[in-house]
Amino acid sequence: TPGGSLYDRIGPQALEALVNRFYSYVAADPRLAPLFPDDLRLTAEKQLAFLTGFLGGPPLYHQRFGHPRLRARHLPFVITPERAQAWLSCMASALHDTPSIAPEDARELHAALGRVATHMVNTPGEAT
Ligand code: HEM
Repeated sequence: TPGGSLYDRIGPQALEALVNRFYSYVAADPRLAPLFPDDLRLTAEKQLAFLTGFLGGPPLYHQRFGHPRLRARHLPFVITPERAQAWLSCMASALHDTPSIAPEDARELHAALGRVATHMVNTPGEAT
């Protein structure tokens, strides 16, 4: 249904394809891969559940795992501005690979995730 939530416009199939694509980029990115488990299936499942609710669909993450407390859950990991940028560039690549998501929806999603990624930064960047 156009005009509904971002979740309605993107749809569950494209969202799942996006998330799987995203983690294939994460696994191949030397700035990010060391932070993640080798088997990304559960991570991807949790991310799909989270994004479903975040974008206006059913609150799957809350139902299965409780309140996300995203910033607290990310505190055990060193997240620098560079890593947040790397995360976002993996998402941009995954969006690029998912043409069934309309460009304006892709832009809106990328902007919303950019705000969350910035909020996850918990460690200053390297001095240059
Ligand atoms: C989990 C890294 C941004 C949502 C994780 C995990 C890592 C991580 C290492 C643990 C994976 C696991 O053990 O399965 C990062 C880094 C980010 C970032 C480096 C850069 C800013 C984000 C953003 C979102 C997000 C922007 C949401 C839009 C999640 C969710 C989980 C997760 C839902 C699963 C939490 C759980 O264990 O239940 N992230 N993340 N992350 N991340 Fe991120």
